[in-house]
Amino acid sequence: MITQTLKWVGGIDGFLELIDQRRLPAEFVKLQCRDVEAVCEAIKTLAVRGAPAIGVCAAYGLVLGMQKLAADAGLEQGLKVLVESCEYLASSRPTAANLFWALDRIKNHAQKFIAENQDATIAVLQEAILAEANAICQEDEYMCRQIGINGEKFIRPGAGILTHCNAGALATAGQGTALSVMFEAQKKGRKFKVYVDETRPLLQGARLTAWELKQAGIEVVVICDNMAGWLMKQRSISAVITGADRIAANGDTANKIGTYSLSILARENGIPFYIAAPSSTFDLSVKSGAEIPIEQRSADEVVIFAKTKIAPDGVSVCNPAFDVTEAQDIAAIITEKGVIEKPNAEKIARHLGGPSQ
Ligand code: MRU
Repeated sequence: MITQTLKWVGGIDGFLELIDQRRLPAEFVKLQCRDVEAVCEAIKTLAVRGAPAIGVCAAYGLVLGMQKLAADAGLEQGLKVLVESCEYLASSRPTAANLFWALDRIKNHAQKFIAENQDATIAVLQEAILAEANAICQEDEYMCRQIGINGEKFIRPGAGILTHCNAGALATAGQGTALSVMFEAQKKGRKFKVYVDETRPLLQGARLTAWELKQAGIEVVVICDNMAGWLMKQRSISAVITGADRIAANGDTANKIGTYSLSILARENGIPFYIAAPSSTFDLSVKSGAEIPIEQRSADEVVIFAKTKIAPDGVSVCNPAFDVTEAQDIAAIITEKGVIEKPNAEKIARHLGGPSQ
C-alpha cells in the first residue's frame, strides 16, 4: 500500500491534510492546513517536502488563499488575491521547480478562465482553481507510476541500489520518483537491496526513505553519508538512483546536498547514476545548473542534533540544502515520458516536446 502524503478534504471550503514528515518515523501524525499561511509554514519547515509534493501543496494553498474572499467579491479582486497568494507561496523555498511550475499553472488557468467567463461568480472561479489543483495532483500520481514503469529495467536481480534523501511517496502525490522505480521492480518479482544515505542534516533518508522501503518489504540498509564511496569500491552498489528538485535545460540537476558527491564517486567507480523525475521538475528557462538558486537553511539544522548541541557555541556554519550534479555524470534521466540516456539540451528539448510514450 502506497502512503498518501497529502489529501484535499471537501470542496472549495475544504482543507489540506498532510502527513507531518517532521515527526516520522517516531510518530505518524496528520496536519490540517486551513489557510494559505499554514501551507507556506508546512513547506518552509519541511512538514511537507520533496519537489512534486511541494508543487501539489502550493496548488491547494492557492485554493485556501481564495477562501478569504467574500461571496460577492468580483473576479478582478479574486485574481488580485490569487496573485498575492502565488507570490507568498513562491517565497517558501527557492529550489524546487515544481513549486513555481504549479503556481504559474494555476495563475494562467485562472486568467484564462476569467477572460472566457467574465460574468462568473467568485465561487465558480474558486471551483475552477480547485479543479486545476486536483488535476495537478492526479497528474503527479500518474507521472510517478509511469516513471517507475519506465525505469524498473535499470534494477537488475541482486542489484545494490543507492539512493539519497527521500524521493518516495512522501515526496510526491503518488508513489514517488526514484522509489517508484524500486516499487515497480519489486512488482516484477526482482530481489534487490537498497542502500539509503541517512542524508544529513535532516535525515530524510534514514527517517523517511528507510520507513517507506521497509513498509514495502524491500530490503533496506541505512548508511551514513560518508560510507557510500567505500561501498561502491567494494562493489556493493551497482547503481545510484535519486530524485531531482530542478533540472536545467542542459540536464544539470539540483537535488539534496550530497547528491553531487555521489555522482563523482559513481563516475570514479564506473557505476551508473540515474535521476528519476517528472517533466514538472524541468526548468528550461534555466540554461545550466549554475543558474539554479540553492536554498540556504538555518545553522541550527547542522549544529543541533536530536535537541542536543553538537558543535561549540558561536561556530560558523554553512547549510546549503541542495547541490548540482552535472549532466555529463548522469547516465539517464527517467521521466513519465520515457528515458533520456546521456542527457543534453537537445535530447531534453525533444523529449519534453514529444508525446507521452
Ligand atoms: O529538502 P527536501 O527534503 O525537500 O529535499 C528533497 C529532495 O532533495 C528530493 O530528492 C527531491 O525533491 C526529489 S522528490 C521526488
